[in-house]
Amino acid sequence: MRPLTPADLNPAILKVQYAVRGELAIKAEEFREKLQAGHKDLPFTKVISSNIGNPQQKGLDQPPLTFSRQVAALMEYPPLVELVKDKWPQDVIERAQELQEEIGSIGAYSHSKGVPLIRKHVAKFIEERDGYPSDPEDIFLTAGASAGVSLLLNVLITPPTTGILIPIPQYPLYTATLAQYNGVALPYHLSEPDGWKTSLAEIEAAIVKAQQDGITAKALVIINPGNPTGALLDLETMEAVVRLCEQHSLVLLADEVYQYNLHKPESHPFHSFKQVVRRLGSPIPLFSFHSISKGVKGECGRRGGYFECTNISPEVRALLYKMVSVGLCPPLAGQIGVDCLVRSPKPGQPSYPLWKKETDEIAAALAQRTQLMAARLNALPGVSCVESPGALYLYPRLELPQKAVEAAQKLGKPADALYAMELLEDTGICVVPGSGFGQKDGEHHYRLTCLCPGVEEYVGALENFHMKFLEKYGGL
Ligand SMILES: Cc1ncc(COP(=O)(O)O)c(C=O)c1O
Repeated sequence: MRPLTPADLNPAILKVQYAVRGELAIKAEEFREKLQAGHKDLPFTKVISSNIGNPQQKGLDQPPLTFSRQVAALMEYPPLVELVKDKWPQDVIERAQELQEEIGSIGAYSHSKGVPLIRKHVAKFIEERDGYPSDPEDIFLTAGASAGVSLLLNVLITPPTTGILIPIPQYPLYTATLAQYNGVALPYHLSEPDGWKTSLAEIEAAIVKAQQDGITAKALVIINPGNPTGALLDLETMEAVVRLCEQHSLVLLADEVYQYNLHKPESHPFHSFKQVVRRLGSPIPLFSFHSISKGVKGECGRRGGYFECTNISPEVRALLYKMVSVGLCPPLAGQIGVDCLVRSPKPGQPSYPLWKKETDEIAAALAQRTQLMAARLNALPGVSCVESPGALYLYPRLELPQKAVEAAQKLGKPADALYAMELLEDTGICVVPGSGFGQKDGEHHYRLTCLCPGVEEYVGALENFHMKFLEKYGGL
């Protein structure tokens, strides 16, 4: 019998690309293993993972929120209550008891859309956030937002002519999933000179181009706040987006996983698309995604999230229910995480003071690092960087020496991939080149997260490397 080869697999799988965990991340892992094994021949002593928004990752070490972890611990091992009942806050004990009464053991499958009580809590959270009703039947709990995005792209795509409008730069989940399901990515560029604003004209142009190519634009993806840009949509743009969806019969996919990551909430507040759609009385089909992985919780590994359906018929909702039933249920640990996300401690409750302190500290550190890193990057020759008002990233633009561009061409790589590889080899800092998120031809960027502690040292290493790189390739 001959061995299984890639050529035997679904060809769509071979087209999938996911830069956040690509060549650089693999190389960074090799360096980390070398350092652990005691190698002394590298020019750095630690690898800094600035490539992925994974706050609790080793080395980044964002502390988990105590409240969520205490509830999770009691859910994992209910007899623990006997040891902690006089030590842990009473609201933690009550929350765990309430969830245990509803769920029983978290070792059992739950309802395929998620535990009904938790879905009720999600609906209440949305109602309080937006001021409009939310129906728990419209809520699907998921294994992170990714699982919801994947499900919806799968059900929306009818190959080979379904197009999905995606922002460029984008989080590569979208292009990767489109490749997997044979959908066509219809890129629309965000406007960098306007702080990565969403341009209606760009979306319109992408729809027209798709029509010319025989592709039907079926859905529009908006990431708000953006990844990798951190940009937030203002209300005027959101209303125009909704009207555009009405005009072109588009389903709106609103990826709102960074809704709590706001560094300048006074000037750049978050508004949900659900609220805008309801306020305008718009009939557009909308799916909105949220997650426990981001915000200040950063519980990426628990795999918790949800999507809400707005203006979706009971028949379509029933089909979605059928599809999620095939996967049985989202992880219970993630569902508990969602409950803690949407029902965080309130003033007056015993857990509140610590929860407030922890969340404020994380939010302040993210905002401070974002500001400091943007200022320092902007001071470098050939670098310009929009200071993100949201999310966890910066996306600086690089002007690179012609010789670097040529050297990259010889290696068959984009020039920002060469820059990122040399940065990793020289400093141990792992970022993702802009080519992984999409950018205009001839442009170069990279994305770095604002999650690394010791930012002074880290930015200093970036600055030194940048100057050496310019010198090595003959300057600008
Ligand atoms: C814009 C965006 N959407 C979705 C996700 C996926 O998050 P989750 O861990 O909830 O699957 C990410 C993760 O980085 C993201 O940046």
